[in-house]
Amino acid sequence: MDNFIFQNPTKLIFGKGQVEQLQKEVPKYGNKILIVYGGGSIKRNGLYESVLSQLKACEVEVFELAGVEPNPRLTTVHKGVDICKQNDVDFILAVGGGSVIDCTKAIAAGAKYEGDAWDIVTRKHIPKEAIPFGTVLTLAATGSEMNAGSVITNWETKEKYGWGSPHVFPKFSILDPVNTFTVPKNHTVYGVVDMMTHVLEQYFHPAQNTPLQERMCEAVLLTVIEAAPKLIDDLENYELRETVLYSGTIALNGFLQMGAVGDWASHNIEHAISAVYDIPHAGGLAIIYPQWLRHVEEPGLRKLNQLATRVWGVDPTGKTEQQIAEKGIVKLEQFWQSLGAPSRLSDYNIDNSNIELMADKAMVKGEFGNFKKLNKENVIEILTKSL
Ligand code: NZQ
Ligand code: ZN
Repeated sequence: MDNFIFQNPTKLIFGKGQVEQLQKEVPKYGNKILIVYGGGSIKRNGLYESVLSQLKACEVEVFELAGVEPNPRLTTVHKGVDICKQNDVDFILAVGGGSVIDCTKAIAAGAKYEGDAWDIVTRKHIPKEAIPFGTVLTLAATGSEMNAGSVITNWETKEKYGWGSPHVFPKFSILDPVNTFTVPKNHTVYGVVDMMTHVLEQYFHPAQNTPLQERMCEAVLLTVIEAAPKLIDDLENYELRETVLYSGTIALNGFLQMGAVGDWASHNIEHAISAVYDIPHAGGLAIIYPQWLRHVEEPGLRKLNQLATRVWGVDPTGKTEQQIAEKGIVKLEQFWQSLGAPSRLSDYNIDNSNIELMADKAMVKGEFGNFKKLNKENVIEILTKSL
């Protein structure tokens, strides 16, 4: 294993009716509260009303930022920063999916910085503080509810970057599976693909002697593979929503990467795709991740074989290691396609006209990938195979 220090300070509040905990948590942090939410799903399913009634009971002053886009944009971050600065907001509450939470993280850090919040996203400025914030999660996918990462899009320059800071761990996150009942089938599937890819990104790492980490990753994958097909036919099943919600958090809250730092090249490539085409993050992942797996057969053969046999139940008898690996990759593709995930860039009407542009955007900080370094030629190859 690599040496490591692990700390995750987010208080996780999980289960039915836990929104009531807002009354205990919010007053600890302040009395001028900004609530941040998306395009209206929380108004349609009643969560907005129940959050507001909790805040009313706290007797706090409430400001609002509505309309955070999927793939949240810098312009919306700016709006939130302005509200915070003009009104001395002392606590932010994100109510939504990963986009709302990521936007909130950029607002929280941006409001404590004199310059443009984009400097934080591009790592020109390292945040030294942030307004404290909590979350009420409504979609199982990103893990943003219990990690210190955020992904922001600058639509003017067509750039989308991830950034992180220990100052932007949520103080608390409320996860009630009931709040995810209204997530439509397509976004439920995207969430499943995203969390599975997070696990896989961490499964492929260069550290040695990580048997427990590998088994933990496989456990999350097996759990999601069992639950997801049932869930997409039964969207209001509490137990299945609960299982998938918990899986999404565990997939990216640091538990799986103690002692081993994952690869994350596929996420980098996907961010370049959705910076140019504004497609759902996990839609892009479902398309490129299998091609990345094929690309890393060397040095990934052992892991690919392990994944194929332990997770996908591939029978190794009479097969070469390459055949076992390929069978496992095909099983992954078939699983995602059976859920309704896209499999080719052409599913989003993306042709080869911007391959070079996307590769340049992915390469902006040079070669990348912690398990296997990718250069521009490799990125173009992966994108071309994904067309
Ligand atoms: O905007 P509203 O109306 O709320 O609708 C959203 C949105 O249209 C809807 N939705 C959310 N909860 C719902 C619901 N609809 C009905 N009922 C509910 N309960 O779902 C749509 C997608 O929401 P979004 O927040 O965009 O999805 P997700 O959670 O997948 O977040 C995606 C963003 O997170 C970034 C991605 O790049 C993308 O920008 N990521 C963040 C990460 C992190 N912070 O750690 C890691 C990830 O790898 C990822 O890159
Ligand atoms: Zn992701």
